[in-house]
Amino acid sequence: MEPRSCGFLLLLLHILRAVIALEGKIITSKPGDNVTLSCIYQGKELHLKNLRVYWQIADDQEECTVVHALISGQDNESEQCIHFKNRTQLFWDRLEKGDFSLLLLNVSQSDKHRYKCVVLQKTEYTRVIHQAEVVLRLAASYSQPILSGPIRNSDSTEEEVTFSCRSGNGYPEPNVYWINKTDNSHLPPSELKISHHTDGTYSVFSTLKVKATSNMQIECSIENRILRENLSANYTQQKQSNGSSTESHKNLEKSRRSAQAAGIISIVLLMGLLAVIACWLWRRRSSKLVSYTDVQTNEDKGGLNSPI
Ligand SMILES: *[C@@H]1O[C@H](CO)[C@@H](O)[C@H](O)[C@H]1NC(C)=O
Ligand SMILES: *[C@@H]1O[C@H](CO)[C@@H](O)[C@H](O)[C@H]1NC(C)=O
Ligand SMILES: *[C@@H]1O[C@H](CO)[C@@H](O)[C@H](O)[C@H]1NC(C)=O
Ligand SMILES: *[C@@H]1O[C@H](CO)[C@@H](O)[C@H](O)[C@H]1NC(C)=O
Ligand SMILES: *[C@@H]1O[C@H](CO)[C@@H](O)[C@H](O)[C@H]1NC(C)=O
Ligand SMILES: *[C@@H]1O[C@H](CO)[C@@H](O)[C@H](O)[C@H]1NC(C)=O
Ligand SMILES: *[C@@H]1O[C@H](CO)[C@@H](O)[C@H](O)[C@H]1NC(C)=O
Ligand SMILES: *[C@@H]1O[C@H](CO)[C@@H](O)[C@H](O)[C@H]1NC(C)=O
Repeated sequence: MEPRSCGFLLLLLHILRAVIALEGKIITSKPGDNVTLSCIYQGKELHLKNLRVYWQIADDQEECTVVHALISGQDNESEQCIHFKNRTQLFWDRLEKGDFSLLLLNVSQSDKHRYKCVVLQKTEYTRVIHQAEVVLRLAASYSQPILSGPIRNSDSTEEEVTFSCRSGNGYPEPNVYWINKTDNSHLPPSELKISHHTDGTYSVFSTLKVKATSNMQIECSIENRILRENLSANYTQQKQSNGSSTESHKNLEKSRRSAQAAGIISIVLLMGLLAVIACWLWRRRSSKLVSYTDVQTNEDKGGLNSPI
């Protein structure tokens, strides 16, 4: 058997590379911020005069797709979508080094897209020398919630008490949970007000009215679905004390995302291992078949390591 029968190892490497690239190509921006969409070509010297650079929206359903165009060393606005007018910029000092990254100003909800950068070079004929994709998503962490509860001097029950919880500066709209920490049950909010601000972010105010019990332990939790982030504040009524105390703690869900990444990588590694084993078995089998005629040359071919 030919050493190149192990070519699927190469394919696997490509898949691995694609997975890693995909992971790195999601850019998260807060509404109102400026964001840089990256597109870097690592090749030989370029002459701007011979280049065409198109930044476009890669989703097909869009009517207008041209985000930015650079033709023969000049920005060309003739085909640019109105939505992106005066909001895009290339980095002029970096273009000749192959950095075609795009600065997009004042990002908003309607900029959530998959973007594609295409670089064409015209010498004798025109050809694509580089392409890159970037997914832009919008998200912003909520501020640490502030929970206020009743100041109670008595341990009397049956009295109705009100808690309030507020947080802001986040995106997208949050989920709000009130939790009875004594038995971890969810309590329905009495009031939930989510406000949308001109900068695109949201703030939230919620109240909870419950019949007082002794040693109440209440938690307010603000969830950001996109960032998979839960920020919570809790209220603990201390026995025989002067009343309330509110304590906060941050509960980031970063671990969940890294677990996902680890999952993908271990699957790819497992596939790689299987491929190596399959390869090895194949080689062993074929070396047996030819061993009667020519053991030495087969050994010399040394398939597994050479193609990579
Ligand atoms: C975005 O860029 C513009 C123009 O360069 C600048 O005026 C503005 O302050 C920037 N906004 C942020 C949030 O950095
Ligand atoms: C922009 O491109 C069009 C055709 O692609 C061309 O006719 C026009 O002259 C260009 N404009 C500038 C300012 O380069
Ligand atoms: C872009 O800026 C120019 C000059 O500053 C202005 O005349 C034009 O109206 C702007 N276009 C949009 C769509 O904002
Ligand atoms: C940013 O865009 C929003 C609409 O998306 C607009 O209301 C706001 O005025 C813009 N801000 C700047 C600084 O251009
Ligand atoms: C919280 O759960 C405990 C135990 O189930 C219960 O006794 C208490 O009444 C609950 N508190 C509230 C405010 O619902
Ligand atoms: C955030 O907390 C709520 C309430 O405990 C829970 O239902 C949700 O799954 C949590 N979200 C994340 C991303 O951990
Ligand atoms: C709630 O606050 C108390 C301190 O008052 C702290 O000991 C406890 O760990 C907090 N609970 C949670 C779920 O963070
Ligand atoms: C309770 O409040 C009184 C005065 O309001 C204060 O002197 C005392 O130290 C407080 N006790 C506790 C446990 O906080």
